[in-house]
Amino acid sequence: MKTPTTLFGQLTAEQFLAEYWQKKPLLVRGAVPDIGQILDRDELFALAADEGMESRFVSQAGGWQMRHGPFSQRELKRAPKPWTVLVQSVNLASARAEQLMRRFDFIPYARLDDLMVSYATDGGGVGPHFDNYDVFLIQGMGSRRWRIGKQKDQTLIDGLPVRILKNFKPSRDWVLQPGDMLYLPPEWAHDGIAGGECMTFSVGFRAFPAQELAEQFLCFLQDHLRLPGRYRDPDLRLQKHPAEIGQAMIEQVDTLLSSVRWNRGNVRDFLGVTLTEPKPHVFFDPPAQPLSLSRFTATAKRRGILLDQRSLLLFAGKHFYLNGELWPVSVVDVPALRQLADQRTLRSPNFLQPETFSALHAAYKAGFIGLSA
Ligand code: SIN
Ligand code: CO
Repeated sequence: MKTPTTLFGQLTAEQFLAEYWQKKPLLVRGAVPDIGQILDRDELFALAADEGMESRFVSQAGGWQMRHGPFSQRELKRAPKPWTVLVQSVNLASARAEQLMRRFDFIPYARLDDLMVSYATDGGGVGPHFDNYDVFLIQGMGSRRWRIGKQKDQTLIDGLPVRILKNFKPSRDWVLQPGDMLYLPPEWAHDGIAGGECMTFSVGFRAFPAQELAEQFLCFLQDHLRLPGRYRDPDLRLQKHPAEIGQAMIEQVDTLLSSVRWNRGNVRDFLGVTLTEPKPHVFFDPPAQPLSLSRFTATAKRRGILLDQRSLLLFAGKHFYLNGELWPVSVVDVPALRQLADQRTLRSPNFLQPETFSALHAAYKAGFIGLSA
């Protein structure tokens, strides 16, 4: 497959980051000329029928409806039109989809969520809404009319199974043809309506709301917290109201809680563990008859290793995180393992320390990494 070198035409990735990223939308005509070779409609339907994939069906026929997959092709084709089927994390199931997603590696993997692919019948769409994501919407087959706007009013219509803006006020309007791409920063309102049969590929980058980050961090912290001591009241006096929560109790608990502390290392570990946590429907396939450590080491030295398509490996300084866990590796091998994390493959792991081979072997036995062909 011919892989284009740039997604933005004349614009470099640096210019895109400086002028558009998180600032304003960008439409690029012909950004992904080979989009027709990534995934066709029947391949998407097969993924929508797969119970290992996360899929949704949205229909406008007779009011907004939403169902979770899997869906058989027969079921989809019988549904009253217009409708849309959306499959999340197609990058985990298709190597070509994964390669398309990796063209966006000028954005840190720590921000990357997944590649979602949708198919809509003529007139279909999921309605005007906004996302907590930076998103690159790439037009596959057919055309789609996108209307977008930066509105403050984020009120949603109550009681619907899908998130639809009550007062959508678009300010821009484009029709995308196959290969065209629209970048939208988080919270930009958008509505895409299919012109004929239509496929859209969305590369999404999470932009966590502060509230969500804090809630997740507090969950992480509770597993890492060790507070000594306990509540004590040896000077307890008779209270006028036995039902009253006394001031002294409130003050003492306030003091106890104020000793809850965290540091940059906790935040780093929180991010590493959280951002590499596999999605709930992801399961790895450990090798049925794994090689012993010594055979694994010899074969890896000869053939190289690669991350499983479903694996998430990130690092911060000398700390590595693999699929939701801190991954202890030898400091000496940090440069090689950074290469594995960046490029997802390590062609010549000849000089790694024995303890790094032990860590790699454990990851191999869990199905997180494999031996190159
Ligand atoms: C779609 O592919 O139909 C919807 C994508 C989006 O609006 O985020
Ligand atoms: Co959206």
